[in-house]
Amino acid sequence: MDRPYIICHMACSIDGKIIFDNWGGDIPKEKYSELYNMCHDAYNTQGWILGRVSLEKDFSEGIKPELIKPSAPIKREPFVGNRQAQTFAVAIDTRGKLGWPGNEIGGDHLIAVLAEQVSDEYLAYLQRKSISYIFAGVNEVDLKLAMAQLTEIFSIRKIMLEGGGCLNGSFLNDGLIDEISLLLLPIADGMPKTQTVFEVSPSLRKNPAAQLQLIKAEQLDNDVLWLKYKINSA
Ligand SMILES: NC(=O)c1ccc[n+]([C@@H]2O[C@H](COP(=O)([O-])OP(=O)(O)OC[C@H]3O[C@@H](n4cnc5c(N)ncnc54)[C@H](OP(=O)(O)O)[C@@H]3O)[C@@H](O)[C@H]2O)c1
Repeated sequence: MDRPYIICHMACSIDGKIIFDNWGGDIPKEKYSELYNMCHDAYNTQGWILGRVSLEKDFSEGIKPELIKPSAPIKREPFVGNRQAQTFAVAIDTRGKLGWPGNEIGGDHLIAVLAEQVSDEYLAYLQRKSISYIFAGVNEVDLKLAMAQLTEIFSIRKIMLEGGGCLNGSFLNDGLIDEISLLLLPIADGMPKTQTVFEVSPSLRKNPAAQLQLIKAEQLDNDVLWLKYKINSA
């Protein structure tokens, strides 16, 4: 199946932890965010993918979807909310939990990736908002199928995967990551339960560890290292 080239872009402590919230007041989190965005922009991709938990925390502004029963059942087929869109924010939201202020994030058109079990009320909500959606699986999201549809329906050839750890873990386990762009921050976190860059769910069959090839190491401001790796395909 044809699918986009996928770059996993993340910032983490030297022990691989990805949650900034526990880090103390003197740590220049805004500077790290600026560097993160600068490196993101350098890739010039057609969009980015995020998991439901990260979106709820950092982007959907706590908005609850307004659920109204549509007059007729809605077919489980793709819906395109903006045919002119060139760049995309892809939300992996299996059960349709996220509410949105509009149909884009920072100019990137929203695409919700759903499972077919989602309610008609939620599909009607997305249609009213002109938010695109696709289906990839009946009860859970099949990421391979979802990625193939991004290419087939939206002509996406290169995209960034930006967390969180659970979604990254699933992409890694499915062999869907081609490259990793890691900002290694000068932080030693040490919190045993804090999430890392890749968290593969115990419910999944864990595939062998991915082997990486370092393609670039660059020192940035504020003692940040930008590491780029290719994933060796099996
Ligand atoms: N340091 C960084 O660069 C960085 C970047 C991004 C995010 N973060 C942080 O990461 C944290 C959230 O990460 P997270 O790992 O808890 O959540 P996440 O990866 O953002 O989202 C996980 C959710 O995505 C949905 N999902 C659908 N299909 C999935 C699949 N095949 N595999 C995994 N998830 C799937 C599920 O939603 P349902 O539960 O609705 O089914 C799942 O609970 C936040 O604190 C955020 O700030 C850090």
